[in-house]
This record gives sequence, structure tokens and C-alpha cells, in this order.
Amino acid sequence: MDVSDVLPERLSSDLCRAAAVLGKAKDLLIITHIDADGISAGAIASITLDRLGKRHDVIFEKKVTEDTLRMINGSDAGAVWVCDLGSAYLSGMKRHDVIVTDHHVPDPKWRRKQTFLDDFCDIHHLNPHSYGASGSYDVCGAGMTYLLSKAVDPANEDLAYLAVIGAVGDFQDDREGRLVGYNTAILKDAIAAGDVTASEDLRFYGRDTRPLTQYLQYGGDPPILGITDNPAGVQRFFSDLGIPLKKDGAWRTWTDLDDDERVRATAYLLSMASEEDKNAVAGEVYTLNRFKRGSGLRDAKEYATALNACGRYDDAETGLRICKGDVKAMEDAEKNRLDHRRNISAALSYVKENHMIHERRFVQYFDAGSKIRETVVGIVAGMLLSSGDARKELPILAFADADDGVKVSARASRMLTDRGLDLSLVMKAASEKVGGYGGGHSVAAGATIPRGREKDFLDAAEDLISSQVT
Ligand code: C5P
Ligand code: ZN
Repeated sequence: MDVSDVLPERLSSDLCRAAAVLGKAKDLLIITHIDADGISAGAIASITLDRLGKRHDVIFEKKVTEDTLRMINGSDAGAVWVCDLGSAYLSGMKRHDVIVTDHHVPDPKWRRKQTFLDDFCDIHHLNPHSYGASGSYDVCGAGMTYLLSKAVDPANEDLAYLAVIGAVGDFQDDREGRLVGYNTAILKDAIAAGDVTASEDLRFYGRDTRPLTQYLQYGGDPPILGITDNPAGVQRFFSDLGIPLKKDGAWRTWTDLDDDERVRATAYLLSMASEEDKNAVAGEVYTLNRFKRGSGLRDAKEYATALNACGRYDDAETGLRICKGDVKAMEDAEKNRLDHRRNISAALSYVKENHMIHERRFVQYFDAGSKIRETVVGIVAGMLLSSGDARKELPILAFADADDGVKVSARASRMLTDRGLDLSLVMKAASEKVGGYGGGHSVAAGATIPRGREKDFLDAAEDLISSQVT
């Protein structure tokens, strides 16, 4: 099966039209998001243009602001390619030859105006929502960018692995324990190109770099009773199975285990996991064949984390260099990765030790003030939910200081989105009510609101949440 076989016909023809715009433009501006998905998307776009011999700049943005729109509208580049962002702000784009490859919930105003605006400004909007697919599971920003890249030249199939990294970085494989939808077809391309191997395995984080004990103790999402955060339990687990923790004096990683050890350890862990968590504990994992064992880039989740560690600390350019094959960039990224790990772990302890999570009837929240960076507060909120330190039955909202007001990050368990919760709508409507703006996805969304309006925002969000969830 080729990826183009599973795409709706309308998407295939829209991709061809957008590819023609890329072919025609003399020079281009790429604008992309700072997270793992955005960086992989930016890399796919940039490599595609390199191969076409097109001059281009790549600019990273945390979100679309008035300044971003001014930059898009005022750019003298022949075309502007916006990746993993932009769909929510289409009505602010007023120039010719804009291409948006995104998966965020689109701007409803634009959809309504689309028919007559089409005559004046031509935006090539490529987003799964427009074709009846999900932006949360079926395809990500890097995936849509890859589809366009492949429409430009089928030989760009060797970029499919970057779209797999983007999808994993946006947790698109979490609900089913594997990639689904368009992502499956993109994965097939990556496998066909020889870049990715998909295998059934434990889906904990850090299988290629963390010592076995740390892998089990801290890698679990969802947590497993008796293992997660339980060093004695982990020691017992491996000694019960007769699996040595070291080889030749060095700590072994999960990928160092032989097949027999891995199968026995997985079966034992599954027997400890609750019925509902089994799907998340084991499933499909993605190995990136072109990277060496232990490099931190061989497992798709670890690669995505390396990119996040760059982008969320104002160094997305290093992430882009990694994706474009610059070996030296990995050394620069190592410092970012260590900082990221330290920051996340300090942030988690800060929230837990100070008992900062407040519960209301339909929502829980914490206010990190200036203690947690606004770019990582969402990651922290998500980890609190999955580690069980925050209640899974309630969405979690997290506030953090930002230059332009207060940043809000929202996360929810799949259980709630399955029952009708859509955080993207909640963030958009509640922030607009207090003079801010926001959006995102049903399970992960964000907003920026004016300082001092947190309580009103919470009230509005809670009203919306209670009316959505059945
Ligand atoms: O920053 P955070 O990781 O919490 O963002 C979660 C999602 O919400 C991202 O996909 C982001 O693009 C989106 N978001 C948004 N508008 C904002 C803030 C975040 O659409 N003002
Ligand atoms: Zn994304």
C-alpha cells in the first residue's frame, strides 16, 4: 500500500496544486512550530526545498501572533509555507501563495468565508480536519508536510521517518499503542525506505538509552503499581526473572536484552498492569535504523524528546540541524537534553512537593507563575496526569507567566475526550471570553490570557467542560 492509495482523492489533488505553487516560487519562507512535530515538519519542508534548489529561510514560532501574521503577509518571498501551525489563523493571512500543512483545529471563520475569499488570496490549506480525518491521531503537522513533500517528488519517501518522529512527538500513537490512520501509510513509506523498523515491544520511554532499572522505574506511562517509582520492586522484578542488570560492568538497556529476556519481562509486566492499561504498556515501537544504538536518536520517542529539548529552550535551530543530518548538532543537543531533563524533573517535584494542584468540580489546575517555563508547563501537566499525580478523571489546566500575559496549557486523558471533551474548543472559547486567544487539539491545547483574568478563565473553562462531558 502506498500512502497515496489511502488519501482521499480531494486531498491528493489539493496536494498537487500546492506542490505546483512550491515549484513555481523563486524563493520561500518556512514558518514552523518549536515542538518536536514542528521541527520535523520544518526539516521535511526545508530538505524538500533544498532538493528543488529553492532559496528559503526557516523561522520557528511558539504560536501564531499578530507579528507572525504581519511577517507572513509582509514577506517578499515568492511563497510562504507554514507547518504545524497556522490553521487556526487562516482568516488573518492575506497574501498570495500561502501553504499551510497543519493538523490543529482550523479557523471556523475562514471556513465560512472560504468560498468568496478564495478569489482574493490563495491559501492552500492542507489539514486532516478538512478531509474527515483526525488531527489528534491520524496525522500530525510533519505528516501533512511529508504528504506535500511526496507530492513534490515521490523520491522524498526517505523523509517519511521524520513524519513518524513528529507523530510520536505529538503522542499520536498513544491511544491505540500504535500509529493509525494516514500515519500507518506514512510509516509504511518509512519502512519501505529502510529508515524505520516497527516492532511489538514495551512502550516505556528510554528503551535505547536508560539503564534497565531507570527504564522501568521512570519510563512507564501509565504507571505500574509495584514498579513505577519503586526501586526495590524493580530490582525484585529483574532478579525474579533472572535477568542481569549489567553486562561486562556496564548497565544494560532494554534494547540490550535478548528476545527471550524481553518476551518474559514484557509478559511479567503485562501481568502486573491493570486490564485497561495493557494496550498502552505494550504495542508498537519505532526504531530509526540510520542511528546507532545508544545515540539517543535510535528510538522515535527519544529522538522526539531530543527535538523538544531544543525547541522548548529557544534552540529549535539545533533540532533542525539534527533532522538535516548534522552530526555535530547532536553534541549541542546533549546539553539541551540534560537541561530539559533537569527542568522537567525539578518542575514535577515543585508541583508535587508544594501540593499545588487545586481541584474544582470539573477541572484541576496549578499556577506555576515564573517557576516553570511556559514552553514546558504543558509537558509537565501531561506528565502529572499520566503518572497518576493528578486525577485522570479531570482535565488539568496549568498557568505560567509569559511575556505577553499568562500562558495556559491544558491536558486531558483519552477517557475524557472519548466522552466528548474537546480542550481545543474549551481553550478557544474560554480565552476569548477574557480577552485572550487559544486552540490546539482535543487532548492537548493552550491559550494566552491577560494577567489577572485566571479566575474568570477557570470559571468559563469549567462551564464549557461540564457541558461537553457526558
Ligand atoms: O504549549 P502546549 O504544549 O500546552 O500547547 C498544546 C497545544 O495547544 C499545541 O498544539 C499548541 O499549538 C496549542 N496552542 C494554541 N494556542 C495557544 C497555545 C497553545 O493553539 N495560544
Ligand atoms: Zn503538531
